Amino acid sequence: LARPGLVIAIDGTSGSGKSSTSRGVAERLGLRYLDTGAMFRAMTWWLLCEGVDVRDVAAVAALVGRPAIESGTDPLAPTITVDGVDVSVAIRGEDVTAAVSPVSAVPEVRARLLDLQRDVIGAGDIVVEGRDIGSVVWPQADVKVYLSADPDARAQRRTAEQGGTDVASTQQSLLERDRIDSGRATAPLTMAEGAVHVDSTHQSLAEVIDRIVALAGAPAPGA
Ligand code: DC
Repeated sequence: LARPGLVIAIDGTSGSGKSSTSRGVAERLGLRYLDTGAMFRAMTWWLLCEGVDVRDVAAVAALVGRPAIESGTDPLAPTITVDGVDVSVAIRGEDVTAAVSPVSAVPEVRARLLDLQRDVIGAGDIVVEGRDIGSVVWPQADVKVYLSADPDARAQRRTAEQGGTDVASTQQSLLERDRIDSGRATAPLTMAEGAVHVDSTHQSLAEVIDRIVALAGAPAPGA
């Protein structure tokens, strides 16, 4: 369906709908799927298990080479393992979510994961979601999308996803992560050159997926 070797990069803020969108696009186009946020979460999970103080940049930097992190790329069943242990569920915990932005700001962490990301992306036929895919990891991507939504919409979606009710505290935590992710010195979240800005605030998931599939040059379903 899609061009051979196609790479679609989808960057954006926390809770903008990147994961559902990226998986949906990959499924529609028969592509693989890589969640780079899950890799940063897996590194963070491992550091926390090791008892490392994640605010200690030197300690974090010294250990980045230790864990073996592997991502599965099936959009219907994405998996991530650390030293062979499936951590797909554990990396969504609150402790990891609270620590992942500072860990992601450490240049050594980014350098290590960049290598792993490029190894997976190199074979092509993939939708990759993250913060710096179109700007740093794979600037030559065929399609680059910057996905956003207003903070109220993001907080509401994320709270519903987690089965919670406290929209205000979810929003506070999203905004705090945005602040760190956009403000860091190495590969901050930014709209990459050549990226198409898609605002999902007033669009359904299906509409956003259709839009990106169209950007990739594939016909709409039934067309
Ligand atoms: O997409 P997510 O919320 O699972 O990402 C978790 C964190 O990982 C996010 O707060 C910032 C970091 N991240 C990053 O720095 N670069 C990426 N390409 C992907 C995620």
